Amino acid sequence: MRSIIITGGAGFIGSHVVRLFVNKYPDYRIINLDKLTYAGNLANLSDIENRPNYKFVRMDICDFDGVLKLMQTEHVDGIIHLAAESHVDRSIKDPFTFAQTNVMGTLSLLQAAKLYWESLPERYEGKRFYHISTDEVYGALEMTHPEGIPAPFSTKSSAVTHLAYGEKFFTEDLKYQPHSPYSASKAGSDHFVRAFHDTYGLPTIVTNCSNNYGPYQFPEKLIPLFINNIRHRKPLPVYGKGENVRDWLYVEDHARAIDLIFHAGRVAETYNIGGFNEWKNIDIVRVLIKTTDRLLDRREGEDMDLITYVTDRAGHDLRYAIDSRKLQRELGWEPLLQFEEGIEKTVRWYLDNQAWLDNVTSGDYQRYYEQMYSSR
Ligand code: NAD
Ligand code: TYD
Repeated sequence: MRSIIITGGAGFIGSHVVRLFVNKYPDYRIINLDKLTYAGNLANLSDIENRPNYKFVRMDICDFDGVLKLMQTEHVDGIIHLAAESHVDRSIKDPFTFAQTNVMGTLSLLQAAKLYWESLPERYEGKRFYHISTDEVYGALEMTHPEGIPAPFSTKSSAVTHLAYGEKFFTEDLKYQPHSPYSASKAGSDHFVRAFHDTYGLPTIVTNCSNNYGPYQFPEKLIPLFINNIRHRKPLPVYGKGENVRDWLYVEDHARAIDLIFHAGRVAETYNIGGFNEWKNIDIVRVLIKTTDRLLDRREGEDMDLITYVTDRAGHDLRYAIDSRKLQRELGWEPLLQFEEGIEKTVRWYLDNQAWLDNVTSGDYQRYYEQMYSSR
């Protein structure tokens, strides 16, 4: 029997992690601790909400007393920490919220875990504090090959299409060079996690993952926003020239990596997780248009004129590309889903779940949860 808090379980990646753990480990107790900000949506978990091994607790990770009490009453022996403010554009407008949630919230969880586990006879034995971070903390890579070169390493799933746009990749030993308030706040939280291991011996693990895509992503991020806009024939705001490169990973591949690392990763280690799958934004946008048009029985490519180049994001990182060979070597993890398949699946999901999209874009769901929880 294990009792695990998953923070941010009502968000995009968190909901996939919660679903995986609830389904795969019926003898674990899975506690989803989430504040339900605009990005948190319990509808993401409607299929598992009544399972006996699942519990939802609405709580702010910054509520240190609340977290400590929850750990004590639930005898928590593992934390998988995903709760965060996660959107770069919002961080540019409102950096304080990012520092508060991402840095202070993580510190509150660390301190609660430390106090609770140190109060037990076995202390840190069998305990895990697993912090989910981003590749964005490493800063930006140069684009030395704008046309792309065959990637120096790949996986079965990426071998067909994979190009690299430079020679350098993010490895675990790189120094942190965050540029956005979002990545700076994630870097700050990563430093606190490592400091709690080095100072107190807290059994921590950190992973830094590349851009995720898939169902249940809030439609402010590139892929769901653009699918929704294509459907409604609204402009597609491509920042700058659309040349920026991101390394995309299907969200369920990330969730599988989290499961593996939580159980088998080495304490105090960092693992990079990536898709071996670099794409320029403009190329992704073209694939999204073609796929969405085809699935909507429109002429493939007829919505290309929705592409609208807009002012670039301030401090826009040029290229992210992850070297996740450490994880491949040590734990045998590889992405399973080929990108073209993943995109097809993702576009289909958003088109089939228009009600979900309409709900989260209208804000009704937020008012609903406010009412539901304020009346308790
Ligand atoms: P998301 O924005 O979809 O979800 C975040 C969740 O955290 C929401 O459910 C929200 O309600 C909750 N939350 C926010 N503030 C909270 C607080 N103070 N207390 C409790 N809950 C709070 O985010 P996501 O895209 O699923 O990302 C999850 C984690 O993975 C984040 O830590 C992010 O930095 C990291 N990450 C994301 C990506 C990506 O591509 N999305 C890539 C690498 C790493
Ligand atoms: P995003 O999904 O916000 O993820 P991140 O900034 O964490 O990488 O953006 C992915 C890429 O798409 C990034 O280079 C910014 C770009 N982008 C646009 O060009 N237009 C948009 O409307 C959005 C949201 C993103």
